[in-house]
Amino acid sequence: MKRLPYTPLQIAMHIYAWSGLLLLIFDSLTGNLSPNPIQDIEQRTGRHAITLLVLSLLCTPINTIFKWSEPIKRRRALGLYAFMYATIHVIIFMDLDYGLAWSRLIQELFQKPRLIVGVIAFILMAPLAMTSFDIWKKRLGKNWKRLHQLIYLIAPIVVLHYVWSKKGDILSLQGEIIKPLLYGTIIAIILIFRIPPVRRSLASFSTRVLALLQKRSRLPKVDTP
Ligand code: HEM
Repeated sequence: MKRLPYTPLQIAMHIYAWSGLLLLIFDSLTGNLSPNPIQDIEQRTGRHAITLLVLSLLCTPINTIFKWSEPIKRRRALGLYAFMYATIHVIIFMDLDYGLAWSRLIQELFQKPRLIVGVIAFILMAPLAMTSFDIWKKRLGKNWKRLHQLIYLIAPIVVLHYVWSKKGDILSLQGEIIKPLLYGTIIAIILIFRIPPVRRSLASFSTRVLALLQKRSRLPKVDTP
């Protein structure tokens, strides 16, 4: 039988990534956006961007735990999709929300530090997206990896931008704070997994568990009376 040119994971990834934009266009055309459509678009694109960013960060721990290497091959596309949504998010804010009125935009940025945090995240994401291609990997050599480690700084900055955009109280967990905290928790766990001794013990633990499972699956089944 002829093999598909794409793996199921690849298909799922592309469908999920484009679904955010397609749904947004569909809801805009059918009048299904919220009563504040610009805010709705800003929020949806922001959330899709952070979700894709988290998915790209999950690729390495999934590879470490399950010894499944395919997610590593999908990391770049997920990161680029995250940047695509972040760019749409920023364009909507600058154009639809502020009509590219630069002085008003700059004034707004300086009045709302949470927006400055978003700008910092976006500025840091841009060189990663631009240098994500193989030609840059070759050109930058060891520095490529160093540069791309920035993603572990960008992710918490984006979470801060998200938490700050929401009304609520972190201590009493009231308001709209649960979702951003969930993203923050996932990112914190991913960062903990990156600590070398934690990563090493996790890798050896999963190797032992997988070997045990493999051994069990090879054992002949004994019928119990
Ligand atoms: C120039 C940079 C940025 C600007 C000016 C900006 C602007 C905004 C604004 C105005 C909001 C609030 C929307 C509202 O609730 O009224 C927002 C929320 C948000 N932004 Fe950004 N943003 C920037 C960068 C980013 C980046 C790089 C990401 C992700 C990678 C991001 C993700 C989010 C998320 C997740 C939210 C919350 C969405 C929600 O309320 O559900 N933003 N941003």
